[in-house]
Amino acid sequence: MEEQSIVILDFGSQYTQLIARRIRELKVFSAVLPCTASLDEIRKYHPAGIILSGGPSSVYDPDAPLADERVLGLGLPVLGVCYGLHFIAHKLGGKVVPGPKREYGHAEVTVTGKSRLFENMPASLNVWMSHGDEAKELPPGFTVVASSHNALAAFQDESRRIWAVQFHPEVHHTKLGIDLLRNFVMGICGAKGEWTSRHFIDETLKQVKATVGEKGRAICALSGGVDSAVAATLVHKVMGERLTCVFVNNGVLRKNEFHKVQQNLRENLGLNLVAVDATERFLRKLAGVSDPETKRRIIGNEFIEVFDEQAHRIEREIGAVDWLVQGTLYPDVIESVSVRGPSQTIKTHHNVGGLPEKMKLKLIEPLKDLFKDEVRRIGRELGMPEEILQRQPFPGPGLAVRILGEVTPERIALLQEADDIVVTEIKAAGLYRQIWQSFAVLLPVMSVGVMGDQRTYAYTCAIRAVHSEDGMTADWVPLPHEVLKKISSRIVNEVRGINRVVYDITSKPPGTIEWE
Ligand code: XMP
Repeated sequence: MEEQSIVILDFGSQYTQLIARRIRELKVFSAVLPCTASLDEIRKYHPAGIILSGGPSSVYDPDAPLADERVLGLGLPVLGVCYGLHFIAHKLGGKVVPGPKREYGHAEVTVTGKSRLFENMPASLNVWMSHGDEAKELPPGFTVVASSHNALAAFQDESRRIWAVQFHPEVHHTKLGIDLLRNFVMGICGAKGEWTSRHFIDETLKQVKATVGEKGRAICALSGGVDSAVAATLVHKVMGERLTCVFVNNGVLRKNEFHKVQQNLRENLGLNLVAVDATERFLRKLAGVSDPETKRRIIGNEFIEVFDEQAHRIEREIGAVDWLVQGTLYPDVIESVSVRGPSQTIKTHHNVGGLPEKMKLKLIEPLKDLFKDEVRRIGRELGMPEEILQRQPFPGPGLAVRILGEVTPERIALLQEADDIVVTEIKAAGLYRQIWQSFAVLLPVMSVGVMGDQRTYAYTCAIRAVHSEDGMTADWVPLPHEVLKKISSRIVNEVRGINRVVYDITSKPPGTIEWE
């Protein structure tokens, strides 16, 4: 298997992991290494080829990231992407200059020369560009094989086995990018495409084993969602009973969720699970609080308290805990950077960070390079129930951010019922898997209605359904009329305390997915 790998040298682009992901889609193993990796480190992966990623720098920056330029002379095929192209041009005697202006967005590229990189692809391509510098003069021996407007879009030297593209084949916006990567990885490098989820699992288990050793204990906070459940299932395969999973009922879970999650994780997956019903202490802290950020903070902090207490209890009763398992995915890593960085905090996501700092535990994050759909595939390979794998995302602060204003036991019970109706009907209509999220929101708005011959004066419930790729942007879903009708009629008839149902038709931006 290892002879089939592709090494990606990372020059700092936000898209580097996306290159790795595309290569995994081609069923080829890839390893992302820092651009400073030594030749020995690179050779350990027995690469069939090397990709030089993009990056935000200019090759002329004083602290521009550099790779050992001998990677260009190993005789292995090399593909440079964006900054990777500049690096190749710069190091091999070409000339890189600042472009007249930063090129960012869609561009048309015309393939002008014969190239194995563009084999079986049309002469005109729609691509995604994101660069300031451009190559003005080619290194000796290289030829241009594609151009955009009057700028260079791709060059190569077949005899040295070096190819380079100015655009980003790995991003979704480059329509045929995957064909180009296939041409490189399978055509030029000769990789076979035999790497599957099974290999990922075997490899991960080996790594976890090497990390945790024969002794030592780990804990994992389970949310009932797919990420933490897959991470725990993987680590459980190595550590068995040495891994204790903790599932906390924060009082704002969905109807029957506390029970169902325990059943799935303990009975179906055999995890060593401690379920803690902390409803009372969460609701006590939430009493009288209406501000969304305060609610989020209270739930986040209380969660850490409860989890910390459990960890100490485990240490007292069973033995020292060394590791914390987290189901962090690659998009969480990007998002938490921006959440913590200079950009404005829109909402505080309580499940990134917090725990490890407080608990001084070493982290195990077996999924941190993966995307959601890949995690689902791995979960499936591990034999996990579809109910967990296909579950729509549910926020850490739970129904508390879907009850506007104060969170009270009465309001939680109303929303649990309404939410259960929404999910049941969406599932019955066969729409659950196609929709990113679909749920009910309880509004503290009372209105007048009539039921039988009786006047009612009760709460309003909003229905929200959105399509999204990653939660960062979202479009509202036009649910079929019949489905809306059924949901509305069931909620008003079955949930005493709600007499009006409205439909949220706001996309993100400018709205957010959750109401708080
Ligand atoms: P917003 O409301 O920010 O939500 O548009 C984007 C996505 O994130 C989920 N979300 C959270 N998930 N902890 C989570 O695990 C949180 O604190 C949290 N807040 C929002 C939300 O459900 C949507 O999928």
